[in-house]
Amino acid sequence: MVEVEYKNVTKRYDDGSEAVKELNLEIKDGEFLVLLGPSGCGKSTTLRMLAGLEEITEGEIEIDGLKINHLPPGARGLGMVFQSYALYPHMSVSENLSFGLRMAKGDEKLDDQEIKLRVREAAEMLELIDYLDNKPKELSGGQRQRVALGRALVRRPKVLLMDEPLSNLDAELRHQMRNEIRRLHDELGTTTIYVTHDQIEAMTLADRVAILDKGVLQQHAPPLEAYNNPANDFVKSFLCRHIDDLVETANNLFSKE
Ligand SMILES: Nc1ncnc2c1ncn2[C@@H]1O[C@H](COP(=O)(O)OP(=O)(O)OP(=O)(O)O)[C@@H](O)[C@H]1O
Ligand SMILES: [Mg+2]
Repeated sequence: MVEVEYKNVTKRYDDGSEAVKELNLEIKDGEFLVLLGPSGCGKSTTLRMLAGLEEITEGEIEIDGLKINHLPPGARGLGMVFQSYALYPHMSVSENLSFGLRMAKGDEKLDDQEIKLRVREAAEMLELIDYLDNKPKELSGGQRQRVALGRALVRRPKVLLMDEPLSNLDAELRHQMRNEIRRLHDELGTTTIYVTHDQIEAMTLADRVAILDKGVLQQHAPPLEAYNNPANDFVKSFLCRHIDDLVETANNLFSKE
């Protein structure tokens, strides 16, 4: 059972600005939560505090009931995928996938056989088997992002964190990867927190969506529920109106055929 809980979490940067304000949010075991909101609303900061990449100013974050505020990032059992793939350019796909496992120390150290097995398993899941000996520069954007995802998955993280992982991809690939990410989640059941400013991405991926504005949580609900019963004017305009506009545009296009 892997639950994540934000309890009254505030992030104040050195300049005094509050990026996240008294956030209370619970992510259930196996849930796919999407953090949604406009640029600058505090999505990445929310994720980075959980990952240990940003200090928590006030409040607590718990994983499985254990306060993790002061645990180093590596001890939190999380996997993280960023917008920039940040692959090692001189290493092959296989080496990129295994790097984190090879560097592990102490209890986390695995033998070579197990590392090979996990790399193979991830490569199969992500359709990278034919590319294991290729270098990142020989891959497409989508394949590179799959390597980045695989690199997080081989560690079998308790919680998978993704910060706008698809925004460097073209529309077609984004659509395809979105489906793959959801399929992988359903297959593995890993508790997942996914950051995006894209309403459609949130609607199609999330079990529940947490909508932020200016560091404040506006609504936390299944996407359709938020769409049907927006909690306030912000959600109405950011989520509902945006989706209605898209649907209207699509309908207009089709009615001209
Ligand atoms: N190191 C920092 N020092 C001061 N302010 C910061 C720092 N990092 C982020 N901020 C501010 O905190 C707020 C939230 O930033 P954050 O990166 O979490 O937003 P975001 O929702 O991820 O936006 P985007 O969609 O553009 O990535 C912004 O107003 C940003 O300017
Ligand atoms: Mg961000």
